[in-house]
Amino acid sequence: MQRPSKTAELVCAARATHTLQYDNPVYFDPLAVELCGRFWKLVAKYKPLTMLMNDVIMRKLVAIVPEIILRAKFCEDVFNSLVQNELRQLVVLGAGYDSFAYRDDFPTKVKVFEVDLEITQNEKRARLAKIHKDNLPHVTYVPLDLKEQSLEEGLESHGFDFSHKTLVSWFGVTYYIDRDIFLQSLKIFKRTLASGSAVIFDFLLPQEDIPDHWKPVEQRCANFVAKKGEPWSNRLNENELQYELERIGFSEPEILMPEVIEQKYVVGREDFVFPHIMCFCMATVT
Ligand SMILES: C[S@@+](CC[C@H](N)C(=O)[O-])C[C@H]1O[C@@H](n2cnc3c(N)ncnc32)[C@H](O)[C@@H]1O
Repeated sequence: MQRPSKTAELVCAARATHTLQYDNPVYFDPLAVELCGRFWKLVAKYKPLTMLMNDVIMRKLVAIVPEIILRAKFCEDVFNSLVQNELRQLVVLGAGYDSFAYRDDFPTKVKVFEVDLEITQNEKRARLAKIHKDNLPHVTYVPLDLKEQSLEEGLESHGFDFSHKTLVSWFGVTYYIDRDIFLQSLKIFKRTLASGSAVIFDFLLPQEDIPDHWKPVEQRCANFVAKKGEPWSNRLNENELQYELERIGFSEPEILMPEVIEQKYVVGREDFVFPHIMCFCMATVT
């Protein structure tokens, strides 16, 4: 990839818009707007522009925005529960413009390792510099191409401590990488992370597992990201994922299918419909 990730830009814009334009945001992310590029910052701030964008450029993607919002909420919830239980490190894989580590109330006793392609990371750091958050002592940047380089070596060479309890947050990425890299990364986590550590991620359902009325939405989104040069390539159903995780040695992984995610987060909200295309998972190292 020769330029910073476009999908990372779009998901950041989605969080910014949700925070600024929703009456009662499900996930509150005020730093997202600071991390948007100039164009999306304007769009997020001015409702007529937001509405125009939702009807034009984002028309094909707008149905998937609740997934982007809820995965961030899910991550926040898991982090908050683990942080009370001796969590020492957070790895954000494919971090993009994720703002979680930069919140004023972030517990800085937790060391954060952000992994991403160097070009996206450089752009993020330039944006962070504008708000004086590019050099926080609790955040380490690990520039790395998961397709080409060893994650284990990358983390180790940047001071990651494999003996410390860790949460690995891996959202918005698993469907962009090949299945063998995805499984290889999980094996590395299972083999190397301390007991009590967890890996959380979202995954994309195979087309045949997507309900009929969501299929056109999935197709539009898939075409959109492919045209942006970041095609979806890895899909898993619940049974396959369960089987692979257990084979790797994660006992009792928690897989949240769309109905469960809806029950957990969006019951009673007509303005917020979770797309039945992606699901969440938490795999704990015992
Ligand atoms: C859709 S964005 C998700 C960003 C963030 N996790 C979120 O949910 O907002 C995907 C991110 O994965 C990164 N990425 C894609 N391929 C990668 C690779 N081979 N190695 C490392 N990072 C990669 C992109 O640069 C981008 O920041």
